Amino acid sequence: MNRLLIINAKGIVQHGRSHVVRGKAMQELPVLENGWLLIEGDRISETGHMDEPFHSPVNDVIDAEGRYIFPAWCDSHTHVVYAGSRETEFVDRILGLSYEEIARRGGGILNSAKRLQQTDPEELYDAASLRLQEVIRSGTGAIEIKSGYGLSFDAELKMLHVIRRLKESSPLIIKSTFLGAHALPAEFRENRRGYVDLLVNELIPIIADEGLADYNDVFCDRGFFTVEETERILEAGNKRGLRPKIHANELDYSGGIQAGVKHHALSVDHLECTGEAEIAALLDSDTMPTLLPGTAFFLKLHYPPARKMIDAGLPVALASDYNPGSCPSGKMPFVCSLACLYLGMYPEEAINAATLNSAYAMGVMDDAGSIVKGKKANLFISARMPSLSYLPYAFGSDLVETVILNGKIQ
Ligand code: NIG
Ligand code: FE
Repeated sequence: MNRLLIINAKGIVQHGRSHVVRGKAMQELPVLENGWLLIEGDRISETGHMDEPFHSPVNDVIDAEGRYIFPAWCDSHTHVVYAGSRETEFVDRILGLSYEEIARRGGGILNSAKRLQQTDPEELYDAASLRLQEVIRSGTGAIEIKSGYGLSFDAELKMLHVIRRLKESSPLIIKSTFLGAHALPAEFRENRRGYVDLLVNELIPIIADEGLADYNDVFCDRGFFTVEETERILEAGNKRGLRPKIHANELDYSGGIQAGVKHHALSVDHLECTGEAEIAALLDSDTMPTLLPGTAFFLKLHYPPARKMIDAGLPVALASDYNPGSCPSGKMPFVCSLACLYLGMYPEEAINAATLNSAYAMGVMDDAGSIVKGKKANLFISARMPSLSYLPYAFGSDLVETVILNGKIQ
């Protein structure tokens, strides 16, 4: 079995714990200073202090000297399977059109859906693989990927099969989410109920039977799906073992957060429009509020009230939302910088949110999110840094030097 030893780490970050971090505790980040870490096979096997060095034989040694070891990021919300790109809409927005206006004109998600329907699975797989390689370079070790650019029976299944292939071939831990209710397809404009029927009666059963998704998502927001439609879709998924993980309250106080909590969602994501009632609902739940500051940044939305949420005692998770329309980037270090700058989060809170809490939000806490014996050896070694706060501070610098997934240097 491969035995890889990393010595002289300035600090081993998120060391020794494996639970959701909420409220005031989000400011605490356990770091084992001046440590070593042993990987055996694809798992973390032991850690220790350099004062008590590790002596047994190993195959490889990395001297981390002045660098930190981080658990790899868990990016619990992405749409990395897509066809083409949408920079023309980016320019339309520079010229003054809003994201919602573009969507109403048949652009946005429907634009991506049209392209995806015409693209063969091989091409989708190749393009998504490149994106996965790119996010690995910035330290991601687990990623959730949604369907939702298919918007027809065949194309949704095509997307989910592509995600299944990525799961089989990628060194990343991947979870898959069915998002048939991402937007109403044009051909159902006069028949909303018909589309929800298709999701509930045809797609969800086949997806559950074939194990093609781990979770079930709906874009519950103004101009997309109503609370009633959302509840129908979540109930159908719950009946078949697909736990909800939904898009909510990005564009309005849509009732999506409460609907998610009511149906036992693992996470509710976006949350730009969150007030007292939404916070109260979340406090009473085991649903992870997940914030996507890259999207608020790229769409120039107001940011979700992270400070208020954490100060009220909630946990929050961070994810990228990597997609062609509202956040064409999957760089988690940048997400952490945005969280510090615009969500008012401390660096320790951002790191907790992008590791343990986001591991919870995608159901991979047993394998990822912290440096604990027995978890997958998915981690990265940083560049030399004076302190942990340097990582979100020096935004745009490449501070992820060596990525290790399943115990192997990438
Ligand atoms: O999470 N909000 C809904 N869906 C995506 C955007 C998808 C798109 O514009 O293509 C999001 O932001
Ligand atoms: Fe999204």
